[in-house]
Order: sequence, then structure tokens, then C-alpha cells
Amino acid sequence: DEFKPLKTLKVLVSAGPTQEPLDPVRFISNHSSGKQGYAIAAQARDMGADVVLVSGPVSLDPLPDVKMVSIHSAIDMEKAVLKEAADADFIIMAAAVADYRPKASADQKIKKSDDHLIVEFVRNPDILKKLGEIKTPSQVLCGFAMETQNLDENAREKLEKKNCDLLIANNLSTKGAGFQTDTNIVSLLKKDSIEHLPKMDKKELGKRILEEMLAIKKGEK
Ligand code: PMT
Repeated sequence: DEFKPLKTLKVLVSAGPTQEPLDPVRFISNHSSGKQGYAIAAQARDMGADVVLVSGPVSLDPLPDVKMVSIHSAIDMEKAVLKEAADADFIIMAAAVADYRPKASADQKIKKSDDHLIVEFVRNPDILKKLGEIKTPSQVLCGFAMETQNLDENAREKLEKKNCDLLIANNLSTKGAGFQTDTNIVSLLKKDSIEHLPKMDKKELGKRILEEMLAIKKGEK
């Protein structure tokens, strides 16, 4: 079907930030609005896919006709993503997952004192890396990379380390790209190529990403 090219495919998308609790009232997070991940999920739905969207806390409306799974922490995102990943055809990790979490989340609100407060952080699981390790031959995996320097080099390294088929790199310091905007400006990396795309709407980028993934699935790399 020309207009529903993803019919019969399951597309799993992650979006938004994660929140890593310090105590019952505080958390560590980042500036992701969820717009990029939601735009990809909406596009996949419009192209006929069965879509699951695993989302951190954002202020966007839930997407109609998309299975919404809401989480807060990276650990919970890992659980939700791995549960849905097994039978997914396309997986796109657009979420800004925290690399670290406070070692312990206090049961009670941390009281202020006159002393410094020192918080110890531990590593969170790398969900994309795990997805790359358990990827089946028919699955197509797309990661994102958010960088502030050496965008293309760092993105190439992520593509290889995390065994992705496709990697979308955006630069935090480019106007009209990355966090919170309605547009993005990205480098699109595949195993043997890199392309610098012009500024486009996040949904239009979603279409481009899904078309690339479909071509990879059909073996037209
Ligand atoms: O939500 P918006 O405001 O629209 O902004 C969009 C965006 C900037 C968040 C998005 O375009 C983007 O770049 N998402 C990835 C941000 C990120 O965490 O990049 P990273 O370079 O730290 O991580 C690389 C990849 O590994 C990402 O696919 C990430 O989802 C994944 N990852 C990272 C850490 C971790 N512990 N587990 C992961 O799976």
C-alpha cells in the first residue's frame, strides 16, 4: 500500500527525558520536550504501523491510536522498552535517557544544613546498547546522538558501539536543532554513509527516518 507503507509493522519509539529521583520531591533530568519522539511516533502511525511510544514525563498530549507507556526513570524506561522490543520491527530511541542516577533516593525529603551536599551517582543501563546486542536479523535499530562537539565523529562511534543500523545526530548548539524546537537539523549516519540534512520539521524528519529504515529492512541499503 503506497500510503500505508508500514502496514503490518510494529514500530517502537522512545521519547522525552527521564527523571532520576534524589528524594520524594526532587529529581535530576534534562531539557527534552518529547517533541522529536512524538513526531516520529505520529508519523509511523500515519504510515500504517502499529506504534508503541514509551515516554518520559512531558507536557505533550498523548497520541491517538498509539499505545502509550509512561515512565519516569531510566530503569523503568529500560523495562518498558525491553518488554515491547521483542516483537518490534523498527526501534527508534529518541529519548534523552539519563546516563547516571543518584546512588540512593532518600525515603524522606533531604533536609538542608549549612554543609555542602554531596550526591553520589551511579551509571544507568544503556538501553540502546542492549537493544543492539539482542537485535534480531529482521529488526532495524535507530539511535540518536546529542552532542555539543565533534558531532559526526562521536555519532559514528555511537552507531558502531551500539550496533545501530541508523543514527541521527543533532547538535545542542545549533539554532533550530535538538531540544524543544519544532524543527531539527541532523546528520544521518548509516554503516557506510553520512548525509547532512537541511532544517526540517520533526515530523518530516520522522518520515525520512522511517523511509530509511524501510529501505534497510528491504535490503536496499
Ligand atoms: O525531545 P525534544 O525536545 O524534541 O529533543 C529531541 C532530542 C534532542 C532529545 C532528540 O533529538 C535526541 O537527540 N535524543 C537522544 C538524546 C540522547 O540522550 O543522546 P545521547 O547521545 O546521550 O544517547 C545516544 C543514544 O543512546 C540515544 O538514542 C539515547 O536514547 C540512547 N541512550 C542513552 C543513554 C542511556 N542510558 N540509554 C540509552 O538508550
